[in-house]
Amino acid sequence: MAICHQSPFKLFTTIPSSSSSLKPKPLLRCNLSLPSRPSLTSTEPEPVYTSVKAFAPATVANLGPGFDFLGCAVDGLGDFVSLTLDPQVSPGEISISEISGDHNSKKLSKNPLWNCAGIAAIEVMKMLGVRSVGLSLTLEKGLPLGSGLGSSAASAAAAAVAVNEIFGGKLGIDELVIAGLKSEEKVSGYHADNIAPAIMGGFVLIRSYDPLDLIPLIFPDGKELFFVLATPEFEAPTKKMRAALPAEVGMAHHVWNSSQAGALVAAVLQGDLPGLGRALSSDKIVEPRRAPLIPGMDAVKKAAIEAGAFGCTISGAGPTAVAVTDDLERGKAIGERMVAAFLKEGKLKAAASVSRLDRVGARLVSTIPR
Ligand code: HSE
Repeated sequence: MAICHQSPFKLFTTIPSSSSSLKPKPLLRCNLSLPSRPSLTSTEPEPVYTSVKAFAPATVANLGPGFDFLGCAVDGLGDFVSLTLDPQVSPGEISISEISGDHNSKKLSKNPLWNCAGIAAIEVMKMLGVRSVGLSLTLEKGLPLGSGLGSSAASAAAAAVAVNEIFGGKLGIDELVIAGLKSEEKVSGYHADNIAPAIMGGFVLIRSYDPLDLIPLIFPDGKELFFVLATPEFEAPTKKMRAALPAEVGMAHHVWNSSQAGALVAAVLQGDLPGLGRALSSDKIVEPRRAPLIPGMDAVKKAAIEAGAFGCTISGAGPTAVAVTDDLERGKAIGERMVAAFLKEGKLKAAASVSRLDRVGARLVSTIPR
């Protein structure tokens, strides 16, 4: 959920656009099954760039039965964060100079303590022990707020990666995810199933939060996988959608959902699209509580399956509905049916898009060397 908070902070000059373009750069550089390394606070790192620009993709959290522990990154949509060394910003601090995007992005605070990107950036600066350099940040929102596409996580992931990379990329994935989790905790709830795939790309299983234990699930190369994302004009704040969930679950639902989550992991690893779709559709704990809060959701799911999707569920906390297929053209047709169902049964205008898996996650897209 976006936090609305007017900024008392001074606005600084907009960051100049970067001069060099880089290929997407995977950031996997630590053993994800190991506990986090201690924070690096003893030696302050030197910045290696004057300015960097990072991108982080949209994410689909939960994937049906994987509430708070399964998620994946999808391509084509996401947020950008640019960072510049700025002598006008107090050493060790960060200033948000500009936020752009659709009209809703005006709701976002420019106070870094209340902004997803700002919170993650501050955490990474603390972990690195940055004390002598001030940073100016701009945020370009490509994702709508409260849409179920990991909007807050994309901002946090891009910011965490940008700060880490401007100081030479000293931190590993687990630290970046922990920094992003601080941001998620403050703005939407303590869950890593958006921030982990936003940073790592692909499918991710969060095996444990304490200590953080992230398992990348490699979907086989050469298998077609398309996500149909139908987003209605309706805001479903994550905090509110989490408040709708039961505090406890019965044994029968526990057994069912656990077996379906296991089946989903197996299907991802095997590239088994029908199995993935069946598991995606199977949640008996979270979806039944949330779907009634999203007008038309049940009809949208039915329409997606009737149009040939392997499965369909709520993306993250909603209101976006996500369906999977192995064919681009069928994906477009499924999207049209989902949009029509949102309108007919939910009285909501919606837009659909078809994405592939983003296997890279948050990455630098340009830099200006020092
Ligand atoms: N697992 C989180 C939830 C994801 O469903 O509340 C929110 O995007």
